[in-house]
Amino acid sequence: MLLTLARRRKFLFVGGKGGSGKTSVSSALALARAAEGARVLLVSTDPAHSLGYVWDRKLTDTVVRVFDESGSVDAIEVDPDATIERHFDAVRRTMLQILPERLQGAATRHLDVAKTAPGSHEAAMLERIAEVIEQAGNYDLVVFDTAPSGHTLRLLALPERLFGWTESLLASRKRSESFAAAARGIAGTTDETSDADGRLRRTLHARRERFAMMSTVIADHSATAFAVVTLAENLSVAETIDITGRLQELGIDVGSVVVNRRSPADAGQVLADQRQREAGYIRRLVENLDDVPITELPLVTKDLTGTEALRELAGHVGDCR
Ligand SMILES: Nc1ncnc2c1ncn2[C@@H]1O[C@H](COP(=O)(O)OP(=O)(O)O)[C@@H](O)[C@H]1O
Ligand SMILES: [Mg+2]
Repeated sequence: MLLTLARRRKFLFVGGKGGSGKTSVSSALALARAAEGARVLLVSTDPAHSLGYVWDRKLTDTVVRVFDESGSVDAIEVDPDATIERHFDAVRRTMLQILPERLQGAATRHLDVAKTAPGSHEAAMLERIAEVIEQAGNYDLVVFDTAPSGHTLRLLALPERLFGWTESLLASRKRSESFAAAARGIAGTTDETSDADGRLRRTLHARRERFAMMSTVIADHSATAFAVVTLAENLSVAETIDITGRLQELGIDVGSVVVNRRSPADAGQVLADQRQREAGYIRRLVENLDDVPITELPLVTKDLTGTEALRELAGHVGDCR
Protein backbone atom coordinates (compact mmCIF):
# COMPACT_ATOMS: atom_id res chain seq x y z
CA MET A 1 0.00 0.00 0.00
CA LEU A 2 2.82 2.34 0.88
CA LEU A 3 4.58 1.55 -2.37
CA THR A 4 1.38 2.07 -4.36
CA LEU A 5 1.00 5.45 -2.72
CA ALA A 6 4.60 6.33 -3.61
CA ARG A 7 3.92 5.35 -7.22
CA ARG A 8 0.90 7.61 -7.44
CA ARG A 9 2.12 10.75 -5.68
CA LYS A 10 5.06 12.93 -6.47
CA PHE A 11 5.61 14.26 -2.95
CA LEU A 12 5.52 12.12 0.14
CA PHE A 13 6.04 13.49 3.63
CA VAL A 14 6.98 10.88 6.19
CA GLY A 15 6.20 11.99 9.74
CA GLY A 16 5.65 10.50 13.17
CA LYS A 17 7.13 10.32 16.62
CA GLY A 18 10.93 10.38 17.00
CA GLY A 19 12.36 6.87 16.90
CA SER A 20 9.34 5.32 15.18
CA GLY A 21 11.34 4.72 12.01
CA LYS A 22 10.74 7.74 9.76
CA THR A 23 14.26 7.81 8.38
CA SER A 24 14.37 4.05 7.85
CA VAL A 25 10.93 3.93 6.22
CA SER A 26 11.66 6.97 4.01
CA SER A 27 14.88 5.36 2.88
CA ALA A 28 13.37 1.93 2.29
CA LEU A 29 10.59 3.48 0.26
CA ALA A 30 13.01 5.56 -1.80
CA LEU A 31 15.04 2.43 -2.46
CA ALA A 32 11.98 0.36 -3.41
CA ARG A 33 10.88 2.96 -5.97
CA ALA A 34 14.41 3.39 -7.35
CA ALA A 35 14.73 -0.38 -7.70
CA GLU A 36 11.74 -0.29 -10.05
CA GLY A 37 13.33 2.48 -12.12
CA ALA A 38 12.15 5.71 -10.53
CA ARG A 39 14.30 8.78 -10.01
CA VAL A 40 13.89 9.59 -6.34
CA LEU A 41 14.98 12.54 -4.23
CA LEU A 42 15.19 11.88 -0.51
CA VAL A 43 15.24 14.96 1.70
CA SER A 44 15.84 14.98 5.44
CA THR A 45 14.32 18.00 7.12
CA ASP A 46 14.63 16.60 10.64
CA PRO A 47 17.16 18.73 12.53
CA ALA A 48 18.32 15.44 14.08
CA HIS A 49 19.59 14.21 10.72
CA SER A 50 20.30 10.52 10.46
CA LEU A 51 19.83 9.95 6.75
CA GLY A 52 23.59 9.96 6.20
CA TYR A 53 23.93 7.24 8.81
CA VAL A 54 21.28 5.08 7.17
CA TRP A 55 22.92 5.37 3.73
CA ASP A 56 26.40 5.22 5.20
CA ARG A 57 27.40 8.40 3.38
CA LYS A 58 28.22 11.94 4.37
CA LEU A 59 25.25 14.06 3.30
CA THR A 60 24.93 17.83 3.05
CA ASP A 61 22.52 20.46 1.81
CA THR A 62 23.46 19.67 -1.79
CA VAL A 63 22.43 16.53 -3.65
CA VAL A 64 24.52 13.36 -3.30
CA ARG A 65 23.63 10.22 -5.29
CA VAL A 66 23.32 7.37 -2.80
CA PHE A 67 21.88 4.71 -5.10
CA ASP A 68 22.28 4.26 -8.82
CA GLU A 69 20.91 1.22 -10.62
CA SER A 70 17.95 1.17 -12.98
CA GLY A 71 16.59 4.13 -11.04
CA SER A 72 18.37 6.34 -8.57
CA VAL A 73 18.18 7.94 -5.14
CA ASP A 74 19.64 11.38 -4.53
CA ALA A 75 19.77 12.58 -0.95
CA ILE A 76 19.97 15.90 0.88
CA GLU A 77 20.13 16.80 4.55
CA VAL A 78 18.63 20.27 4.68
CA ASP A 79 20.56 22.88 6.63
CA PRO A 80 18.18 25.68 7.68
CA ASP A 81 21.00 27.82 9.04
CA ALA A 82 22.60 27.88 5.61
CA THR A 83 19.23 28.85 4.10
CA ILE A 84 18.83 31.69 6.59
CA GLU A 85 22.34 32.94 5.86
CA ARG A 86 21.80 32.77 2.11
CA HIS A 87 18.54 34.63 2.28
CA PHE A 88 19.73 37.36 4.62
CA ASP A 89 22.96 37.79 2.71
CA ALA A 90 21.01 38.48 -0.47
CA VAL A 91 18.74 40.95 1.31
CA ARG A 92 21.65 42.60 3.10
CA ARG A 93 23.74 43.00 -0.04
CA THR A 94 20.87 44.63 -1.88
CA MET A 95 19.95 46.85 1.07
CA LEU A 96 23.49 48.07 1.40
CA GLN A 97 23.39 49.14 -2.21
CA ILE A 98 20.22 51.13 -1.65
CA LEU A 99 21.01 52.77 1.66
CA PRO A 100 23.35 55.67 2.24
CA GLU A 101 26.34 54.73 4.32
CA ARG A 102 25.16 56.32 7.55
CA LEU A 103 22.01 54.10 7.63
CA GLN A 104 23.76 50.86 6.79
CA GLY A 105 24.65 50.00 10.39
CA ALA A 106 21.03 50.28 11.51
CA ALA A 107 19.80 48.17 8.57
CA THR A 108 22.34 45.45 9.27
CA ARG A 109 21.33 45.39 12.93
CA HIS A 110 17.67 45.09 11.96
CA LEU A 111 18.46 42.12 9.73
CA ASP A 112 20.48 40.46 12.48
CA VAL A 113 17.50 40.73 14.81
CA ALA A 114 15.10 39.41 12.16
CA LYS A 115 17.47 36.51 11.51
CA THR A 116 17.25 35.22 15.07
CA ALA A 117 13.55 36.07 15.56
CA PRO A 118 11.33 33.17 16.65
CA GLY A 119 10.08 31.31 13.64
CA SER A 120 12.88 32.31 11.31
CA HIS A 121 14.48 28.87 11.58
CA GLU A 122 11.22 27.15 10.75
CA ALA A 123 10.51 29.58 7.97
CA ALA A 124 13.92 28.88 6.49
CA MET A 125 13.29 25.14 6.66
CA LEU A 126 9.99 25.60 4.89
CA GLU A 127 11.55 27.85 2.33
CA ARG A 128 14.07 25.12 1.58
CA ILE A 129 11.24 22.57 1.27
CA ALA A 130 9.48 24.98 -1.09
CA GLU A 131 12.66 25.33 -3.11
CA VAL A 132 13.01 21.55 -3.34
CA ILE A 133 9.39 21.24 -4.50
CA GLU A 134 9.96 23.97 -7.06
CA GLN A 135 13.08 22.28 -8.43
CA ALA A 136 11.80 18.71 -8.37
CA GLY A 137 11.04 18.61 -12.09
CA ASN A 138 13.48 15.79 -12.86
CA TYR A 139 12.28 13.47 -10.14
CA ASP A 140 9.45 10.96 -10.17
CA LEU A 141 9.20 11.02 -6.40
CA VAL A 142 10.40 13.27 -3.60
CA VAL A 143 10.33 11.78 -0.10
CA PHE A 144 10.64 14.15 2.84
CA ASP A 145 11.90 12.59 6.04
CA THR A 146 10.41 15.16 8.39
CA ALA A 147 11.00 16.31 11.93
CA PRO A 148 9.04 14.76 14.81
CA SER A 149 5.35 15.33 14.47
CA GLY A 150 4.58 18.33 16.68
CA HIS A 151 7.29 20.28 14.95
CA THR A 152 6.12 19.33 11.49
CA LEU A 153 2.59 20.32 12.35
CA ARG A 154 3.67 23.69 13.60
CA LEU A 155 5.49 24.15 10.33
CA LEU A 156 2.40 23.18 8.43
CA ALA A 157 0.17 25.63 10.29
CA LEU A 158 1.22 27.48 7.26
CA PRO A 159 1.33 30.62 5.39
CA GLU A 160 0.35 33.40 7.79
CA ARG A 161 3.34 32.87 10.01
CA LEU A 162 5.66 32.60 7.07
CA PHE A 163 4.20 35.56 5.35
CA GLY A 164 4.67 37.25 8.71
CA TRP A 165 8.39 36.77 8.34
CA THR A 166 8.52 38.04 4.79
CA GLU A 167 6.19 40.90 5.67
CA SER A 168 8.44 42.00 8.48
CA LEU A 169 11.25 42.22 5.97
CA LEU A 170 9.07 44.10 3.53
CA ALA A 171 8.02 46.43 6.35
CA SER A 172 11.59 47.03 7.39
CA ARG A 173 12.34 47.62 3.75
CA LYS A 174 9.56 50.18 3.60
CA ARG A 175 11.04 51.96 6.57
CA SER A 176 14.45 51.98 4.98
CA GLU A 177 12.83 53.05 1.76
CA SER A 178 11.64 56.23 3.46
CA PHE A 179 15.11 56.67 4.92
CA ALA A 180 16.50 56.16 1.47
CA ALA A 181 14.01 58.53 -0.08
CA ALA A 182 15.01 61.17 2.42
CA ALA A 183 18.64 60.51 1.69
CA ARG A 184 17.99 60.68 -2.02
CA GLY A 185 16.38 64.06 -1.51
CA ILE A 186 19.84 65.18 -0.58
CA ALA A 187 21.94 62.92 -2.74
CA GLY A 188 19.71 62.47 -5.80
CA THR A 189 18.56 59.05 -7.16
CA THR A 190 20.93 56.93 -9.18
CA ASP A 191 20.06 54.13 -11.61
CA GLU A 192 22.06 51.77 -9.47
CA THR A 193 19.84 52.52 -6.47
CA SER A 194 16.60 51.85 -8.29
CA ASP A 195 18.00 48.62 -9.81
CA ALA A 196 18.88 47.36 -6.37
CA ASP A 197 15.51 48.44 -5.12
CA GLY A 198 13.73 46.37 -7.76
CA ARG A 199 15.95 43.39 -7.04
CA LEU A 200 15.11 43.47 -3.35
CA ARG A 201 11.41 43.73 -4.06
CA ARG A 202 11.67 40.78 -6.43
CA THR A 203 13.63 38.70 -3.88
CA LEU A 204 10.97 39.19 -1.22
CA HIS A 205 8.01 38.69 -3.54
CA ALA A 206 9.49 35.57 -5.12
CA ARG A 207 9.77 34.16 -1.63
CA ARG A 208 6.18 34.92 -0.82
CA GLU A 209 5.01 33.30 -4.02
CA ARG A 210 7.15 30.27 -3.34
CA PHE A 211 5.39 29.78 0.03
CA ALA A 212 1.98 30.16 -1.59
CA MET A 213 2.91 27.59 -4.27
CA MET A 214 4.09 25.18 -1.58
CA SER A 215 0.88 25.32 0.40
CA THR A 216 -1.08 24.65 -2.80
CA VAL A 217 1.07 21.63 -3.65
CA ILE A 218 0.92 20.22 -0.11
CA ALA A 219 -2.87 20.43 -0.05
CA ASP A 220 -3.19 18.86 -3.52
CA HIS A 221 -4.19 15.23 -2.92
CA SER A 222 -3.20 14.16 -6.42
CA ALA A 223 0.37 15.39 -5.85
CA THR A 224 1.09 15.02 -2.16
CA ALA A 225 0.44 12.62 0.69
CA PHE A 226 1.61 12.18 4.25
CA ALA A 227 2.63 8.84 5.70
CA VAL A 228 2.61 8.67 9.49
CA VAL A 229 5.00 6.12 10.94
CA THR A 230 4.14 4.60 14.30
CA LEU A 231 5.06 1.79 16.63
CA ALA A 232 2.26 -0.48 17.85
CA GLU A 233 2.40 0.86 21.38
CA ASN A 234 0.32 3.14 23.54
CA LEU A 235 1.94 6.57 23.21
CA SER A 236 2.92 6.25 19.60
CA VAL A 237 -0.60 5.17 18.57
CA ALA A 238 -2.24 7.99 20.54
CA GLU A 239 0.05 10.49 18.90
CA THR A 240 -0.58 9.02 15.45
CA ILE A 241 -4.34 9.34 15.85
CA ASP A 242 -3.85 12.93 16.96
CA ILE A 243 -1.46 13.91 14.14
CA THR A 244 -3.60 12.22 11.51
CA GLY A 245 -6.64 14.20 12.63
CA ARG A 246 -4.73 17.44 12.64
CA LEU A 247 -3.23 16.86 9.23
CA GLN A 248 -6.65 16.05 7.84
CA GLU A 249 -8.02 19.24 9.38
CA LEU A 250 -5.32 21.13 7.51
CA GLY A 251 -6.65 19.59 4.30
CA ILE A 252 -3.66 17.28 3.94
CA ASP A 253 -4.12 13.72 2.69
CA VAL A 254 -2.83 11.10 5.10
CA GLY A 255 -2.26 8.36 2.54
CA SER A 256 -0.97 5.74 4.93
CA VAL A 257 -0.25 4.93 8.52
CA VAL A 258 2.80 2.72 8.76
CA VAL A 259 2.99 0.41 11.76
CA ASN A 260 6.69 -0.23 11.95
CA ARG A 261 8.72 -2.91 13.75
CA ARG A 262 5.97 -5.48 14.04
CA SER A 263 7.13 -8.39 16.14
CA PRO A 264 7.25 -11.80 14.42
CA ALA A 265 4.80 -14.58 15.37
CA ASP A 266 7.34 -17.35 14.93
CA ALA A 267 10.41 -16.30 16.87
CA GLY A 268 9.69 -17.38 20.40
CA GLN A 269 6.99 -16.85 22.96
CA VAL A 270 8.08 -13.41 24.14
CA LEU A 271 7.82 -11.91 20.68
CA ALA A 272 4.62 -13.83 19.93
CA ASP A 273 3.02 -12.34 23.07
CA GLN A 274 4.33 -8.94 22.07
CA ARG A 275 2.78 -9.36 18.64
CA GLN A 276 -0.52 -10.13 20.32
CA ARG A 277 -0.38 -6.88 22.30
CA GLU A 278 0.53 -4.95 19.16
CA ALA A 279 -2.57 -6.30 17.47
CA GLY A 280 -4.66 -4.52 20.13
CA TYR A 281 -3.01 -1.21 19.31
CA ILE A 282 -3.49 -1.77 15.60
CA ARG A 283 -7.20 -2.36 16.27
CA ARG A 284 -7.27 0.96 18.06
CA LEU A 285 -5.75 2.61 14.97
CA VAL A 286 -8.29 0.96 12.70
CA GLU A 287 -11.18 2.10 14.90
CA ASN A 288 -9.98 5.68 15.02
CA LEU A 289 -8.79 6.17 11.46
CA ASP A 290 -11.68 5.04 9.32
CA ASP A 291 -10.31 5.54 5.85
CA VAL A 292 -6.55 5.60 6.22
CA PRO A 293 -4.82 2.51 4.82
CA ILE A 294 -2.45 0.81 7.25
CA THR A 295 0.84 -0.75 6.21
CA GLU A 296 2.68 -3.04 8.60
CA LEU A 297 6.45 -3.36 8.44
CA PRO A 298 8.24 -6.15 10.29
CA LEU A 299 11.01 -5.81 12.80
CA VAL A 300 14.12 -6.60 10.80
CA THR A 301 17.10 -8.16 12.47
CA LYS A 302 19.77 -6.34 10.46
CA ASP A 303 21.28 -3.09 11.61
CA LEU A 304 19.64 -0.66 9.19
CA THR A 305 22.76 0.91 7.74
CA GLY A 306 23.78 0.71 4.11
CA THR A 307 21.95 -0.26 0.95
CA GLU A 308 21.97 -4.01 1.51
CA ALA A 309 20.30 -3.77 4.91
CA LEU A 310 17.76 -1.31 3.53
CA ARG A 311 16.81 -3.75 0.79
CA GLU A 312 15.28 -6.04 3.37
CA LEU A 313 12.94 -3.36 4.68
CA ALA A 314 12.34 -2.11 1.13
CA GLY A 315 11.11 -5.60 0.28
CA HIS A 316 8.16 -5.07 2.63
CA VAL A 317 6.89 -1.61 1.69
CA GLY A 318 4.63 -3.14 -0.95
CA ASP A 319 2.78 -5.30 1.61
CA CYS A 320 -0.83 -4.62 2.50
CA ARG A 321 -2.59 -5.23 5.74
N1 LIG B 1 11.53 -2.17 10.77
C1 LIG B 1 12.58 -2.03 11.59
N2 LIG B 1 13.19 -3.11 12.13
C2 LIG B 1 14.22 -2.98 12.97
N3 LIG B 1 14.75 -1.83 13.34
C3 LIG B 1 14.20 -0.70 12.85
C4 LIG B 1 13.09 -0.74 11.94
N4 LIG B 1 12.75 0.53 11.62
C5 LIG B 1 13.62 1.31 12.29
N5 LIG B 1 14.49 0.60 13.02
C6 LIG B 1 15.55 1.10 13.91
O1 LIG B 1 14.93 1.93 14.87
C7 LIG B 1 15.72 3.07 15.17
C8 LIG B 1 14.92 4.35 14.86
O2 LIG B 1 14.64 4.41 13.47
P1 LIG B 1 14.73 5.77 12.64
O3 LIG B 1 14.40 5.43 11.25
O4 LIG B 1 16.03 6.46 12.88
O5 LIG B 1 13.55 6.56 13.36
P2 LIG B 1 13.17 8.11 13.26
O6 LIG B 1 13.74 8.63 11.99
O7 LIG B 1 11.68 8.11 13.29
O8 LIG B 1 13.75 8.76 14.48
C9 LIG B 1 16.96 2.94 14.32
O9 LIG B 1 17.97 2.35 15.09
C10 LIG B 1 16.54 2.00 13.20
O10 LIG B 1 17.62 1.27 12.69
MG1 LIG C 1 15.05 10.23 11.69
